[in-house]
Amino acid sequence: EDLAATGPVQRLMLFTGVPVQLVTGYAETRELLAHPDVVRSPMDGPHRDSVMDDLIARTEQHMLSANPPDHTRLRKLVTAAFTRRRIEALEPRIREIAAGLLDEMTAADGPVDLVNAYSYPLPITVICELIGIPAVRRDDFRRWSSVFVNAAVHTPEEYIEATTSMLAFVHELILQKQQAPTGDLLSGLIAVRDGGDRLSEDELTSMVFLLLAAGHETTVSLITNGVHALLRHPDQLELLKSEPERLPAAVEELLRYDGPLQAAIPYVARAPIDIAGRRIEAGEVIVFALLPANRDVRKVERADELDITRADSGHLAFGHGIHHCLGAPLARLEGRIALGMLFERFPRLRLAVPEQDPPRHPSLLMNAIRELPVLL
Ligand code: HEM
Repeated sequence: EDLAATGPVQRLMLFTGVPVQLVTGYAETRELLAHPDVVRSPMDGPHRDSVMDDLIARTEQHMLSANPPDHTRLRKLVTAAFTRRRIEALEPRIREIAAGLLDEMTAADGPVDLVNAYSYPLPITVICELIGIPAVRRDDFRRWSSVFVNAAVHTPEEYIEATTSMLAFVHELILQKQQAPTGDLLSGLIAVRDGGDRLSEDELTSMVFLLLAAGHETTVSLITNGVHALLRHPDQLELLKSEPERLPAAVEELLRYDGPLQAAIPYVARAPIDIAGRRIEAGEVIVFALLPANRDVRKVERADELDITRADSGHLAFGHGIHHCLGAPLARLEGRIALGMLFERFPRLRLAVPEQDPPRHPSLLMNAIRELPVLL
């Protein structure tokens, strides 16, 4: 109703005082995300004088903040190492990690917080193994990454400490893998060549940071929001249990229905763009609200209903255009394994506090349930 009243593209003022063009329509999101004049705003150069700005600069030489031709170059180099084969080969290990976490949960007497016990540790362990972080350093890595990813809730000092420690650690790791490559992704990224071109050390480091920032909390929310939505729709859950071959389609529907991201990282218009009877001016910030776009009634019938039997809805949870999620095959694999194994192990799983909606992180970007107490 709100959408119909205000239109799929609207200009509004953020609480920070910055005017933005908010895009909530499905067709408009697809059109604009594929538009050559919708770009990342160029990185600020000259006023990087504080320690914080310097750290940010050293960890942001990655494709998510780049425009063509830099983006094209980085994405090509990274894609050469981030192969489907490398992702598919992870399946048995993801199952093993999930099984270990489920075993630990079995010991619980009373409600268990699914986020803490299952959704959070699974993807971070997978990313560490994928990158090639030695097991003894994983706790450090997990602590740093949590500060790094949730920068807003930490003090600048905590952020600087975590980022500096992680930079030093990743630098050492790169040196080690340069000397003695193994089969992991970081060794693969170091080895990639495109003619005479390869990733610089800052680009390699930034890629490790990006893998964490883009791939951890998003996958946590795919699992948590997905389990929550299914527990709220017992008919859908029963259908899934009786016909487990529906799992891939169910994961897609869960991504559409209550996806991990409220919005993509902001873009900016490089030239005036006319869309949906409105004009976006050059220089204006564009925010793509992925959740309402995925429930646009002009695209999806009964858009507010969870229906795991839907044919491909073409959802936008992984974005669209040149920045379309590189990790989507990994996220899908983890989502399928995590949900499938959880309901198989605990067929009577239910919400511990069904009368309340679980708290979500206050964020303009993430759509993350903070805590989900369940009874096994
Ligand atoms: C980009 C969503 C998991 C790596 C993106 C974008 C979205 C997204 C919406 C585009 C952002 C934009 O246009 O501003 C998700 C969701 C995930 C997920 C919903 C989980 C369900 C992962 C995982 C990885 C990953 C597991 C890797 C381990 C990336 C990378 C990019 C990206 C590298 C940047 C691509 C580029 O700029 O060309 N993701 N992501 N993501 N994602 Fe994911």
